Amino acid sequence: MKEIKIESTLYAYESVENLPQDIQELMSEAVEVRNKAYAPYSKFNVGAALLLENGEVISGSNQENASYPSGLCAERTAIYYAGAKYPNVKIVKMAITAASQKQKTENPIPPCGACRQAIAEYEINQETPIEIYFMGEIGKVIKSNSLANLLPLSFDKSNL
Ligand code: THU
Repeated sequence: MKEIKIESTLYAYESVENLPQDIQELMSEAVEVRNKAYAPYSKFNVGAALLLENGEVISGSNQENASYPSGLCAERTAIYYAGAKYPNVKIVKMAITAASQKQKTENPIPPCGACRQAIAEYEINQETPIEIYFMGEIGKVIKSNSLANLLPLSFDKSNL
């Protein structure tokens, strides 16, 4: 038997103001779209903004449904929109923010497993890492230099 250790390095910033200007702007886009989320059931609004290599910013929010499983997370709304609109343009950075309608969300909210899997597909295909920043409504921001850090041992097309 051999032990396999998996390590990931992430970076924590005390506040969005401690990040470079372009990330602050990307996070502002995520906040703007978060405020337009359709989340009447969970009352939990999420916004995601992607910066593409061509300079375009694509954003998306969570879209819920009376048939709960039919809803979609903000991250996948955004990344599928980018894939549909600019299929051959690389995604460089992604900013994510979440805010409960019930209380202040102070902790960084990481993308769910299904969204990590979806983002991984794009990162692997484009062969360059996607920088990911996530936060709550206020407070700390976590940065990952690549989606791969958030999804070790991913299942991908090489496994098929
Ligand atoms: N949600 C996201 O938009 N992204 C995530 O990564 C986690 C969860 C949404 C889905 C649902 O509309 C609400 O947050 C509560 O789960």
